[in-house]
Amino acid sequence: MWEDRFAAADGYLFGTAPSGVLADNPWIARPGGSALCVADGEGRNAAWLAGQGMQVTSFDLSPTAVGRARDLAAERGLRIDAHVSGWEDWDWSRRFDLVCAIFIQFTGPEDRKRHFADLARATRPGGRLLVHGYTPEQVGRGTGGPPDRANMYTEEILRQGFDGWRIERLARYERHQTSGSGHVGDAALIDLVARKPE
Ligand SMILES: C[S@@+](CC[C@H](N)C(=O)[O-])C[C@H]1O[C@@H](n2cnc3c(N)ncnc32)[C@H](O)[C@@H]1O
Repeated sequence: MWEDRFAAADGYLFGTAPSGVLADNPWIARPGGSALCVADGEGRNAAWLAGQGMQVTSFDLSPTAVGRARDLAAERGLRIDAHVSGWEDWDWSRRFDLVCAIFIQFTGPEDRKRHFADLARATRPGGRLLVHGYTPEQVGRGTGGPPDRANMYTEEILRQGFDGWRIERLARYERHQTSGSGHVGDAALIDLVARKPE
């Protein structure tokens, strides 16, 4: 479904500017450190982090999207290590200073538990994790995200998912998004930025 959607898009489906959570919170980047962007689509977040001086690895299921991610970085004179990979095929034993999970709400509660455990594993002790997505208020707006309420995040879901981590930011808010043609309009968003215990 995603490959077809990207292939049918005229240009970058979610644009080439980073997600608002990174643009609004540039302190999340750790220049000189390593970053993993999971299910990163066409690379808007990976390319931005590389531009901040991070060594960026990314993966996504869609070959078309990953091709665009490589092109985006190259156009900016940057390098990202972008892979075509499904979530299940990724090597989760690899550790990073920063792990970014932006709009990965393609799973319900059961798989989400497993996915959160994978994100935790990929974050090095003391490293930082960013999870960004929609809250249940987003359902039915038609401005982005899946239709399933169960896939949405609340503060409780994010806090419980990373219990014991030091929370640097946990915010639920409204924001106008203009990310390509994929996410356009007022959106109900939530961010967790947290540090893994040493
Ligand atoms: C809403 S898009 C977000 C893309 C990117 N994170 C961004 O913010 O621009 C969701 C992405 O998840 C990817 N995806 C969906 N299921 C996946 C899976 N099982 N493994 C890896 N990537 C997947 C899709 O190809 C798509 O690029």
